[in-house]
Amino acid sequence: MTRRNGDTVTKTSLCPASAGLLLWRKRLDSLLDFEQKIGESLHAIADLFLVMDKRGSILDCRVGDPSMYSDTPGQIQNMILKNVLPSETVDKLSDFVSQLPQSRKTASLEFPLTVNGREYWFDARLLESSDATFVLSARDITKYKKTENRLKLQLQRLNALRSVDFAIASGLDLNLLLSILLDRVIETMHVDAATVLLLDPKLNELQFAAGRGFITNILQHTHLKLGHGYAGRVALERRIINISDLTKARTEFDRSPLFPSERFVVYYGVPLVAKGRVLGVLEIFHRSPLHPDEDWLDFLNIIAGQTAIAIDSAVMFKDLQRTNFELSLAYNATIDAWSRTLDMRDRNNEGHTRRITDITTRFAMLVGVNDSELIHIRRGATLHDIGKVAIPDEILFKSGPLTQDEWETMRQHPTYAVELLSPIKYLEPAIEIPHWHHERWDGTGYPDRIGGEEIPFSARLFALVDVFDAMTSDRPYRRAWSKQDAVHYIESQSGKHFDPRLVPEFLNLVSTNGF
Ligand code: C2E
Ligand code: SIN
Ligand code: SIN
Ligand code: FE
Repeated sequence: MTRRNGDTVTKTSLCPASAGLLLWRKRLDSLLDFEQKIGESLHAIADLFLVMDKRGSILDCRVGDPSMYSDTPGQIQNMILKNVLPSETVDKLSDFVSQLPQSRKTASLEFPLTVNGREYWFDARLLESSDATFVLSARDITKYKKTENRLKLQLQRLNALRSVDFAIASGLDLNLLLSILLDRVIETMHVDAATVLLLDPKLNELQFAAGRGFITNILQHTHLKLGHGYAGRVALERRIINISDLTKARTEFDRSPLFPSERFVVYYGVPLVAKGRVLGVLEIFHRSPLHPDEDWLDFLNIIAGQTAIAIDSAVMFKDLQRTNFELSLAYNATIDAWSRTLDMRDRNNEGHTRRITDITTRFAMLVGVNDSELIHIRRGATLHDIGKVAIPDEILFKSGPLTQDEWETMRQHPTYAVELLSPIKYLEPAIEIPHWHHERWDGTGYPDRIGGEEIPFSARLFALVDVFDAMTSDRPYRRAWSKQDAVHYIESQSGKHFDPRLVPEFLNLVSTNGF
């Protein structure tokens, strides 16, 4: 048996007191009814019995498995409890003892006991017997305690993995993701510091990506070539490197002047591999010796796998986002260029497309079109007359009225637009306006002679803006109309050319914005 005295652990002997057993038996008989009934089974399952008086002097003792305790058998009767059990345990016990008379006749507690250098856990029951002595009967619950602790840890680790999973799924920014991940690593693995180095495949170099628990900024400027340093070897050889005592022998960190001030003792470097590719290295540092069990090592592998997946998906996500963003920039630029080409061709018409696009967007917002549709309406408006690129100059810039044939050609421009734009998947939702902006509410428009709500909303909306802007602008075939005349014309065409529900909204926009 050992006892604890501050930092020093000394051995004491606790022995089965065979002589006292009879006496102890007698005392047991005088215990509470309940305990009397289960006295026999208690006897059978108890691993430690102590009988003591109020002052804590041990009157008797018995142990279930003598081989568990100290080498030297001897009497501990008359010893003080304090000298047998760790002081925290004794404190706990005396608390119980002092509370016993008022509350109940029994109390139970769990306490650890270091015996022969091994830690045991006991689940003890304290009984007050009729003659003012106390009986402590304790069971060795070391196994259960270990299982319980293991389960608790596993649960904690499982939760950590779940939160990492969640962070991955939410498409967080990689640096934020790695910081969350390292927090979980430190918390659940009970280590002092951790870092993730990412492999730059072009430079073949590991670079610092995230770190937690460092006192200095020692690793923040890490640029390690593959094969160099511990981490470089971890990545190259795709295996865990563990240094269990960094203070002994020479290490790869000797080159770093700041390293000693971190006082790290233990190092683990784990390769981060996803889909067969090394993406980086997870490094773990601890400032005192580590004695990891199998669970800890399992978890280290799992969290490394998770980190690799996180990096892989975050990089993919970022690439995807960038691709989309670049594509969308490229398309917008193309759209703009096309429409400007068209505007440039018709010098009288300069700025027409930009103006009409802006007004259409405002009108759409006014009537409650949502943001996701707005972008398509904007693109559609920008491209509305793109089909006119196929109309010969003689027709497009003719200063007089068009002939029947010329009209045939001119009325093709929406169809040309569809031919031009439909191969571009990206512009599919934007094609309504170029296709149907010359349809009329009464079904007399072109190219498809559809009417009413058969005409897509965006095209009905746009037609008002287009006609109003065309009429109030100079054309090769006529001078601009006055705003007032244009407004009257629009009113007169409500329910004929235009959607009657949109006309008042549009005129409201014209009057409030001056157009
Ligand atoms: P645009 O000049 O951009 O005109 C768009 C639409 O605004 C026209 O579609 C029409 O609905 C309306 N609009 C424009 N100006 C007037 C006008 O003076 N009176 C009336 N009532 N409505 C007007 P529409 O008619 O289908 O014309 C499509 C395109 O055909 C026009 O686009 C223009 O490029 C061309 N176009 C139309 N009429 C003539 C013309 O007399 N001579 C020439 N050279 N081109 C014409
Ligand atoms: C590391 O393995 O993280 C760095 C080792 C070194 O600095 O050489
Ligand atoms: C523009 O902004 O004018 C281009 C249209 C678009 O954003 O798609
Ligand atoms: Fe048009």
